[in-house]
Amino acid sequence: MATSFLQRHKMVERNITLLAVLAFGAVTIGGIVEIAPLFWIDNTIEKVQGMRPYTPLEQAGRDIYVREGCYLCHSQMIRPFRDEVERYGHYSLAAESMYDHPFQWGSKRTGPDLARVGGKYSDDWHAQHLKNPRSVVPESIMPGYGFLAERDLEAGDMRAELKVLSEVGVPYTAKDIAQANDDLKLQADATGDAADLKKRYPKAQARDYDGDPKRLTEMDALIAYLQVLGTMVDVNAPAAQEKLAKEKGR
Ligand code: HEC
Repeated sequence: MATSFLQRHKMVERNITLLAVLAFGAVTIGGIVEIAPLFWIDNTIEKVQGMRPYTPLEQAGRDIYVREGCYLCHSQMIRPFRDEVERYGHYSLAAESMYDHPFQWGSKRTGPDLARVGGKYSDDWHAQHLKNPRSVVPESIMPGYGFLAERDLEAGDMRAELKVLSEVGVPYTAKDIAQANDDLKLQADATGDAADLKKRYPKAQARDYDGDPKRLTEMDALIAYLQVLGTMVDVNAPAAQEKLAKEKGR
């Protein structure tokens, strides 16, 4: 038996055409096994209550986050391990990054994970920290980004950006897209009437973020983004807790 197996193996090794055909077959099967499930990926992301697309201001802040390379030092994915959950809060759910293009999970943690930093600090703290991290965290090695407070937010045409995002599956409505540029300004204006904005983007917070109500700066957008991170889904709601308890009991 051992000899016949070796003999057959010899045949495969010496016949280049046979080797190519068999290798192709093996790679094809492996490929199908890996790729086919992706076509049903929708089924693997469980919908959770509370998830909504970013408002134009939050999205503009996210663009600054990406532009400045914050992801080089910060991840946005709390893994389901005890040490992570105790430090950063409830582990991240797949649905919480379903509208992120590109996602910001990251793998480098020079600084802490930011997936649930929203609401952890005041706007003031963020503005101070971004201007000079050492002023609030003396041992910090994070670079300062004070220039963000000096630069007017020039986000471009947010209608176009939301349109593109909607084409890759972010459920912006026609109205969201049409009003994107107005929504952008409205959310950073503490005096405006943001009722309609809040209806379309539940739990959106409209206020001046950077401490300078006269100007709409890049700092406004970045802080608006930081303050929404991890706050859309109420992971401590009774329904969510019940589901978790059930999972633990399994
Ligand atoms: C060179 C690495 C580095 C870069 C780049 C960096 N950070 Fe940090 N960040 C840190 C470190 C280290 C800390 C922890 C010390 C501190 O709080 O300053 C931190 C802390 C933070 C915190 C507080 C988190 C918490 O839970 O206490 C926030 C918010 C933050 N960074 C946002 C940003 C943003 C936004 C950017 C991009 C504009 C950025 N960081 C870029 C290293 C970095």
